[in-house]
Amino acid sequence: MEQIQTKRIVLGITGGIAAYKSAELTRLLVNQGIQIQVAMTEAACHFITPTTMQALSGKQVFINQWGEHTANHMAHINLSRATDAIIIAPATADFIAKLVHGLADDLLSTLCLARNCPMLVAPAMNRQMWENPATQRNIQQLVADGVTILGPANGTQACGEEGMGRMLEPSELARAVLTFFQPKLLSGVKVLLTAGPTYEAIDAVRGITNRSSGKMGYAIAQAALELGAEVTLISGPTALPCPHGAALMNITSAAEMFELVQKHVTDTDIFISVAAVADYRVAQPSEQKIKKSTGGLTLELLPNPDILGYVSGLPKPPFCVGFAAESHNLYEYAATKRKTKKIPLLAANLVQQAIGADDNELVLFDDAGEHVLPRANKLKLARALLQHIVKLYRRGN
Ligand code: C5P
Repeated sequence: MEQIQTKRIVLGITGGIAAYKSAELTRLLVNQGIQIQVAMTEAACHFITPTTMQALSGKQVFINQWGEHTANHMAHINLSRATDAIIIAPATADFIAKLVHGLADDLLSTLCLARNCPMLVAPAMNRQMWENPATQRNIQQLVADGVTILGPANGTQACGEEGMGRMLEPSELARAVLTFFQPKLLSGVKVLLTAGPTYEAIDAVRGITNRSSGKMGYAIAQAALELGAEVTLISGPTALPCPHGAALMNITSAAEMFELVQKHVTDTDIFISVAAVADYRVAQPSEQKIKKSTGGLTLELLPNPDILGYVSGLPKPPFCVGFAAESHNLYEYAATKRKTKKIPLLAANLVQQAIGADDNELVLFDDAGEHVLPRANKLKLARALLQHIVKLYRRGN
């Protein structure tokens, strides 16, 4: 896996109101171990102070080409040579136009022109400015020049208008940066994932569900995206944001999940079944709320289809990965489950440690035996799991 911790990025901030989000972006990237060198335009300093950016990045902020920081007055060369990528966030319409034309009248635009590393640009502007043919032409030119454009998003703007032009949220930008640095080991590979719990209705307001948060499944979707996979995520009810770039399909019940899996699995290379699918559904859910009575209530439950079992039993199944959450006898139950489900790889965890938590520990079972992925946060674990999947998948294809 590419070592994110060794990466250095120049974060260029230009003069737009979304500049306040660059503070959070810096914090998120620094937390990932990435070194951030901030360079701001004069206009950006009207929106957020260099002091804030310096405190968050832990480094002197560069603004001026003629500043005293660099003895040789070559900050534009020094900074662009000591970086793995430049990200401009927010990038105003004006700054984008400057990039297109190769203008270099301040430190940030000069270092962009002098760069010998990739550049990512996160536009942020009023919707009319974004839609203006001049801006659209400029964006097309940047793409043609090999620049990666991140966003913008649709929604409410600082000016009160609604439309395209909002900068992506810091978490989305941070994810995009992490994705950018990963080797694209799954480029062109289609990954189908199930995640989260299912909810089986009893009546109009009650149902049977479980405590799955969806965190592990969403982290795996994110890790697969980082490796360049095309990800379809079929998810039960969760409170999580969709990983940027995944095709998210929300379902409620196991039956709905099964229907969507059947629809999409024919076009799938790797199927990762992380969802905590309810084993049973209510035979006859009531459309109205069941009234309370003094006596007991008996519900008839029917078994739900085994979605993973169905996929692994297909004549030409995709590479299947199953999950097992056990409360005890993890090794024994998981090894048996892998054989029963007829899958090449099963990831097992203890429910007491896994459900709802941000950290987890996995034991992988495959033809070669067991491999422990030690306790780590779920995204880190997901990345390690994906490395294992890539190895086995490549071997079989
Ligand atoms: O033992 P169990 O059948 O619950 O195995 C768990 C694995 O099977 C998980 O990968 C889960 O996503 C999947 N599963 C499924 N459909 C079910 C039950 C579990 O795909 N009805």
